This record gives sequence, structure tokens and C-alpha cells, in this order.
Amino acid sequence: MDSILVRGGAELNGAIPISGAKNACLALMPAALLSEEPLTLTNAPRLSDIRTMTQLLESLGCEVASLQGGRVLVVGTEQISNHTAEYDIVRKMRASILVLGPMLARDGHAVVSLPGGCAIGARPVDLHLRGLEALGATLDLRDGYVHAEARGGLKGAVFEFPFVSVGATENLLMAATLAHGTTVLKNAAREPEIVDLARCLRAMGAEIEGEGTSTIEIQGVERLFGTTHPVVTDRIELGTYMLAPAIAGGDVELLGGRRDLVTAFADKLEETGVEVEQTDTGLRVARRNGRVRAADIVTEPFPGFPTDLQAQMMALMCTADGVSHLEERIFENRFMHAPELTRMGARIEVHGGTATVTGVERLKGAPVMATDLRASVSLILAGLAAEGETVVSRVYHLDRGYEHVEDKLSACGAYIDRISEAAE
Ligand code: UD1
Repeated sequence: MDSILVRGGAELNGAIPISGAKNACLALMPAALLSEEPLTLTNAPRLSDIRTMTQLLESLGCEVASLQGGRVLVVGTEQISNHTAEYDIVRKMRASILVLGPMLARDGHAVVSLPGGCAIGARPVDLHLRGLEALGATLDLRDGYVHAEARGGLKGAVFEFPFVSVGATENLLMAATLAHGTTVLKNAAREPEIVDLARCLRAMGAEIEGEGTSTIEIQGVERLFGTTHPVVTDRIELGTYMLAPAIAGGDVELLGGRRDLVTAFADKLEETGVEVEQTDTGLRVARRNGRVRAADIVTEPFPGFPTDLQAQMMALMCTADGVSHLEERIFENRFMHAPELTRMGARIEVHGGTATVTGVERLKGAPVMATDLRASVSLILAGLAAEGETVVSRVYHLDRGYEHVEDKLSACGAYIDRISEAAE
């Protein structure tokens, strides 16, 4: 298993290109199941989660061509030859559940294993299932698999989510494109990844209105077609790298970054004293002198502060002047980075869903362990600001969601290196 070594203390200056969004791509790829014609995705990120989705789609009979070193993916599904998404693949990644809606919509039947994914709470899929039932599917849970049927096709319906779910909104949005009649999704997720998916589906011939608001209306159509779609910028990767100069000091431009993708987060960063400026080519972030100020955050669905940036923000708050409160409202058990940051000299107390962080002048390098995707990058960020060496182990979590993290940061002057298993 690889580790990442970070030697703290270097200011960061330069530019970091931001990739296409992992979470958008993981929803766009299954959309290819809805059409016999190929879907071409450009600006795809090169990540292990994308390879897992490729494997899953191939197991269902899709042909996936990875061009330009993985930047372009062409997913063709002339026919779905196998309607069972096996546990062995699905357990690696929760987003696998997104093949359920499209398979059911196209062929009227699908069997999908219940997913695994990051260990950040129970993360059930009940909303996905209830929504599909509302569209007329019959579901049966047996041996850890969801057996779904809608032999006469899905039927449009009004479905109100009891709380916001990104994945369930995506699954139902895709399923509804081929349902008979009109579907109205209320209290739908408004994340940029939903907007991106809706735009792609529309380019494939779907009739959708209201994406980006909490009510999405879908008029079912007979069939969808192929198209070419560029994957939206990864707002979580963007936010993560915005924190790099904030925590280490310096001035970095995040190429391709857009403030509207991270408004709540950028506002918070400014509140701490970090400069954020939209340029023609991206977002420029600078911290020139002194410590940042403490700030309180509450994670919420978009457009609120994203849960996927909570761990990274906590790393910054560990070095802030004052006391910060970070309240996690999306996932229970998403403070697993706190004990690891504490090993680096941070002062953090966790009570239920709230972490209280008392900033310290300087963190100290230590061997730490990545527990999930975003936690692992928060430890790297902390390492950039720490005295001495930090070694983050179990970075396979990191590789699920960040492309070449060591190259992107070292290009700006960070001392960061990958220690591969063979060299250990
Ligand atoms: C997506 C993102 C993930 C992000 C999360 C919240 C992808 C691949 N992943 O995950 O990075 O952290 O949005 O922004 O896009 N829930 C249920 N039942 C359900 C579905 C969800 O109880 O059927 C709960 C979850 O446990 C969680 C909350 O609802 O507490 C929100 O989850 P959801 O928005 O569905 O997250 P994901 O789509 O899994």
C-alpha cells in the first residue's frame, strides 16, 4: 500500500489545474445505459473510482473506450447483456447503485447488490428504492441484492424526497427520462453534479426542466440518443486545493475554478482572512501574512457548505487563531480525521455531530492513517502546514478521488512524495 510523505513549511506559489468532477462522472457514465448509442464524456478525471465504474459497466455488457489517457470516455451500450450488478464490484463504491434506475428504465428489470463505499455512516439507499417504487417498480430485497422489475415500463409520478439526497435524485432523474408520462421530483438535490447530469441527459434527448432548483420535472420520452458531454469541474477538488495556499501560505491559481461552484465555501475562506479572486482562467487564492481567523461551519446540501470539504476545512481551522465549531449535518461518523489530526498536535473535541477546534500556532508532523477519501487529503493539507515530516498511510482512499495529488502540489513548491509499496 502506498503512503504519501509531506515535509511541511514550504509556501505554495503557482497554478493547479482542476480536473473534471469525480461525482459528476460517476453519474454520467451510468446514463449511457439509457441509450443504444454511445455517450462520449470529455474532461473525465483519471481516478480509481472511475475505473471501478468502468468495470461495473463492462460487466453489464457496455463497451467502454478510454481515450487520451483516460481524459475521454466513450461508453456504448448497444444492449445490456447482463442485468446483475455483482457485490464484488458494487461493494467497492456506493455510486454503483446508480446503474439501477437506468437499467430498470431501459429494460424493465435489474438486480443490484446493496453498496459499500466510504465508512462515513450508515448510508442506506432507501430513498433510491422508494423513489423507484413510486415510479411503479416492484422491488424485492434478497441475499443482499435489490431485485427490481417494471415489466410494462416505469410510470411518471410525483415523488417528494423526505430529505435531500444527491444519489437518489440522480437515480430517479435518469429513470424518469424513459418513464411513461411526467415525473416531478420535489425537494430534489441542487448540486452542480445534478445540473451537469440533467444537461447531458437533455443533450441525449431527454425532456427535463428545473435542474438546479428543488423541483425537477421530467417528461418521459421513447428513447435517448448518443451525445458528447464535457464533465463539469470538480468543486471538491477545487475547494481542497484552495485550502492548500490557505494553510501553507502563498498564492495559487486554481485553473478552471469557478466561484459559483463553491460560493459558500469561498465566502467562509474569506471570513478567515484568505483572499479569493475570480480571474479569467480560474480562482486565485492567497494568504500572505499571519494566521487565519477561526470560523464556524455547518455542512448542508448545495448551495450550503459541502460535507465533502468539512475534513479539509478542519485541517485549516487547526491552525487558526481562535476556536471554531464544525457541525456535520449530512453524515454521522464523519470526524474520523479528528483523532489523526490530534496526533499532529491539533486540539479537537468531538461531541456528537459537532467538533470544536482550538487553533494552535503550529502542527507537528506525524505518521497518520487515511480513513476515508476526504479525510486522507485533510491530513496532507495539515502536513503542508506542519513542522517536520508527515507520512499518510492507506492512500488508496486518496486515489479514489484525487488525481496526481503529489504532482499538483509539488508543482507549486510543496515537498510531497509518494512512497510506493515496493520502495517501503
Ligand atoms: C454524494 C456524493 C458524496 C457526498 C454526498 C453528500 C457521489 C458519488 N457522492 O453521495 O461525495 O458526500 O453526495 O453531498 O456523488 N441517505 C439515506 N437514504 C438514501 C440516500 C441517502 O438515508 O437512500 C442519507 C445518507 O446516509 C446521508 C444523506 O442522506 O446521510 C445524504 O446522502 P446523499 O446525498 O444521498 O449522498 P450520496 O449520493 O451517497
